[in-house]
Amino acid sequence: MNQAANTTLVRALDAMCADASGADVALQAKFAVALRHFHAMLDELQLTDAELYRIADWLKRVAQEDELVMLCDMMGLTMHALDLARSGGEATAQNVTGPFPKDNVPEGNNPCQLASQDEPGQRLEVRGQVRDAATGRAVPGAQVILWQPNQYGRYENEDDSQSADNLRGKLRCDEAGGFRVYTIRPGGYIVGREDTAVGVLMKALGRNRERAPHIHYRVLHPGYQTLTSQIYFEGDPANPVDCIFSTIPDHIVPAQPHPERDDWQLVTLDIAIEPAGQ
Ligand SMILES: [Fe+2]
Repeated sequence: MNQAANTTLVRALDAMCADASGADVALQAKFAVALRHFHAMLDELQLTDAELYRIADWLKRVAQEDELVMLCDMMGLTMHALDLARSGGEATAQNVTGPFPKDNVPEGNNPCQLASQDEPGQRLEVRGQVRDAATGRAVPGAQVILWQPNQYGRYENEDDSQSADNLRGKLRCDEAGGFRVYTIRPGGYIVGREDTAVGVLMKALGRNRERAPHIHYRVLHPGYQTLTSQIYFEGDPANPVDCIFSTIPDHIVPAQPHPERDDWQLVTLDIAIEPAGQ
């Protein structure tokens, strides 16, 4: 390590006074970790001041383009952070929320007709069961919110050809914790744009911007931690190359031929939610 840089790191660490007015000792400890990693990165890359300020200008552009979260996602930081937040219990893992949740859609029936009759696509039933991660017992009355793109990979809020709140729904689980959703298989999509700072970076890195087909859902119940997760489909060729690394095995489910409905597919979900405060 360069001796001058090392001295600067020590001085930057020492500059944080625990007994200074307004000092937050916990924040100081975390910032010290960040300082050590940033200085180590400068050492390893031998970054000059000009290069450092180029990075600062680039980050400013990412912020102006509202793609800081996308940057976290494409670096795998979001999925890593979600993994670190797991309690290690039986609860279904959280997955990326994405930019398009809408919790204020009106509550409808259970079963939920998420896709209208004339929505094009492979018909799909999602049959779910919500249970307590601690006891394994069914959780009656949980609220489930779902949102997904159409078969072409477009969400209603970015597509003028779709009606408001198309392929979005909210329902309440029955007494046995069960719910049913009648919908279509969503299409995958390309996330972000090629000409943004993050888009240009991804191209230069030889990265794709492909998202594997998925359905977003959220489960809410008083006394339980809110679960936000996703459903992916077994065998989809985009699963291994999903650009935000969110296709974790626990969330990839088989879509089987429906035993009761011709030409339909059936996905069965076992959802375990964690009591609050665990
Ligand atoms: Fe999505």
